[in-house]
Amino acid sequence: MNYFLQIYGTLPRAGPGSNELTQKAFEMMLPLPESPRILDVGCGPGMQTVELLRIGTGTVLALDFLPEMIDRVNAKAESAGVSDRLETIVKDMREMDFPLSSFDIIWSEGAIYNLGFEVGLKKFQEFIRPGGYVAVSEAVWLKPNPPSEVVELWREYTEIDTVAAKLEIIKRSGYEVVGNFLLPPSAWTDQYYDPMEERIAEKAKDWMGVPEAEAVLNEARNEISVFRHYSDYFGYAFFVMRAKRI
Ligand SMILES: C[S@@+](CC[C@H](N)C(=O)[O-])C[C@H]1O[C@@H](n2cnc3c(N)ncnc32)[C@H](O)[C@@H]1O
Repeated sequence: MNYFLQIYGTLPRAGPGSNELTQKAFEMMLPLPESPRILDVGCGPGMQTVELLRIGTGTVLALDFLPEMIDRVNAKAESAGVSDRLETIVKDMREMDFPLSSFDIIWSEGAIYNLGFEVGLKKFQEFIRPGGYVAVSEAVWLKPNPPSEVVELWREYTEIDTVAAKLEIIKRSGYEVVGNFLLPPSAWTDQYYDPMEERIAEKAKDWMGVPEAEAVLNEARNEISVFRHYSDYFGYAFFVMRAKRI
């Protein structure tokens, strides 16, 4: 496994979030069919996938382009006793080609940015049934004029914007906004940065003197440090929306 995956690919989650927040977003989706068909785009290690299976009676198709992630989702669902309602697929989200109206819910925690927020929401319109729901979490600015360390951290994530700007995109992409909320700091630390720090400590000695490995450790350390110092400037928000009924 490459150095990046040995840190980022072994955490309980591959981005901020928590089971409580997955549940909170899911509960905003009313009414729903009794057993909704859910697509989880960029499922990562699948904490939210298993939670969606646990809190409802629906089926989930979990999609990620990394086979290592799909292996972890399958293993987690197996040990949670919910694998009978899970299907998985190793696929690039840019090549999704499901039939029209295939899903009652499309879920994507911390992953829609790989398509682009607006491109992704429009793509989801192809597969969501009219009146179906979409839930995504996405990086947002919380206040203007971030310091240079923050700008540098988010340089490649060019679509980070304010909550208001994201809501505008949702509306012009053919959805009604159901609700939105910010993720609290614990959603960054409990399942993401705290385990990342443990992983860094485990690897630091063995990887010493290997430039590629040290670069991964330093990137992770920097990400945690910028969050600890400046999390009042940026955050993650959950957006729940409903595809317009035709
Ligand atoms: C930040 S992680 C979030 C994972 C998970 N949803 C979570 O919240 O823990 C983004 C995930 O998207 C996947 N991903 C990135 N680009 C992708 C692509 N083009 N197609 C499919 N999956 C992709 C990554 O492998 C990773 O698992």
